[in-house]
Amino acid sequence: MFYFCSPIQYNKVMDLSIKVKDYSEVYVGSVAELLPRLLPERRIIVISDTNIDRYYHSLLESFDHILIGLGESSKTLLTIDNIYRRLIELGADRSTFILGIGGGIVTDIAGFAAATYMRGLEFGFISTTLLGQVDASVGGKNGVNVDGYKNMVGTFRQPRFVICDVNLLRTLPVREFRSGLAEVVKSGIIADKELFEMLEKADFTTLQRDTALLQQIVYRAISVKASIVERDECEAGDRRLLNLGHTLAHAIEKSSSKMNHGEAVAVGLSLISDIAVKGGLLAQGDNERIQNLLQRMGFSSEPPVAKSQMLKAIAKDKKAEGDAIYVVFPKALGECVVERLPLAEFKTLV
Ligand SMILES: NC(=O)c1ccc[n+]([C@@H]2O[C@H](COP(=O)([O-])OP(=O)(O)OC[C@H]3O[C@@H](n4cnc5c(N)ncnc54)[C@H](O)[C@@H]3O)[C@@H](O)[C@H]2O)c1
Repeated sequence: MFYFCSPIQYNKVMDLSIKVKDYSEVYVGSVAELLPRLLPERRIIVISDTNIDRYYHSLLESFDHILIGLGESSKTLLTIDNIYRRLIELGADRSTFILGIGGGIVTDIAGFAAATYMRGLEFGFISTTLLGQVDASVGGKNGVNVDGYKNMVGTFRQPRFVICDVNLLRTLPVREFRSGLAEVVKSGIIADKELFEMLEKADFTTLQRDTALLQQIVYRAISVKASIVERDECEAGDRRLLNLGHTLAHAIEKSSSKMNHGEAVAVGLSLISDIAVKGGLLAQGDNERIQNLLQRMGFSSEPPVAKSQMLKAIAKDKKAEGDAIYVVFPKALGECVVERLPLAEFKTLV
């Protein structure tokens, strides 16, 4: 059942929309009913997953749709190949508009398939997970994993629109909702101390259904990402800030399937904050606030694999450039710095 949410004021929607790179518009709030207005009057093909089909079948059935499997193991070139074949079968041409409906896995795949099929179709997203809304669906990066290495192949291409309706998050399993909170904490540490403080005051037992608070939190987290993408779309500089905690998180995900992306990010944030304190960059008081918040959200701070295994994976991180790697360190709540370090030196810090 797809929830068409209570009517909202046009102005209110406008207040909670964020423009990215003059092309992409992100709408936050109870905004699902905007969809008909945003879709172009052209052929629409939806890419989604089997869970979304289960929860929101009535939305999917009004379009030709392609369903992908669940989990990181679906985020492969094989899935992309299957999507190309289905698009050909469905007669998709250069004027077809792709609508990705789902979490980060769906939007990464739908964006990549759309960006490459016939050298690129227009696309938009309805983002249905917290992690997707505050991170994966916004900013124009898409792609798939290769041989277990995360996001090795992909493109930078902005979606026409992203709908982030926080009411959709109600059907999300609690573990997935919490996973998205790790990326919200990341946004707070990178550039929004007030967001971090809102989280410190939040009641995580009720947040998933607290539309008003969620709307603010999602909006602020997206704003952090959007302003960074605005300055550096292709990750030549400031966009690296968004990788706070992610070098370690990707190493965890590469070495173990025990944690989902957000859980691995939470461990990454916890470890990198400890490292920043040891290196004299971050005050212990700020580190304690980060550790306490992550713990109160229910995250573990322990990697599920031996550090030696993580270190091997770090060497193969796609962000590594030869023998060096860009690492993001927190300096304070709302302030981070990117350092280019020799890989060998970073390994001694972990
Ligand atoms: N492109 C980027 O900039 C970027 C940024 C961050 C993360 N990512 C990627 O995002 C992916 C993780 O995304 P995710 O955490 O959203 O995982 P996901 O897409 O696997 O979704 C999590 C689970 O929730 C289900 N689900 C989704 N929406 C639902 C809803 N409303 N109700 C019930 N169930 C729902 C999904 O079917 C899935 O089983 C990773 O592959 C990561 O690399 C990409």
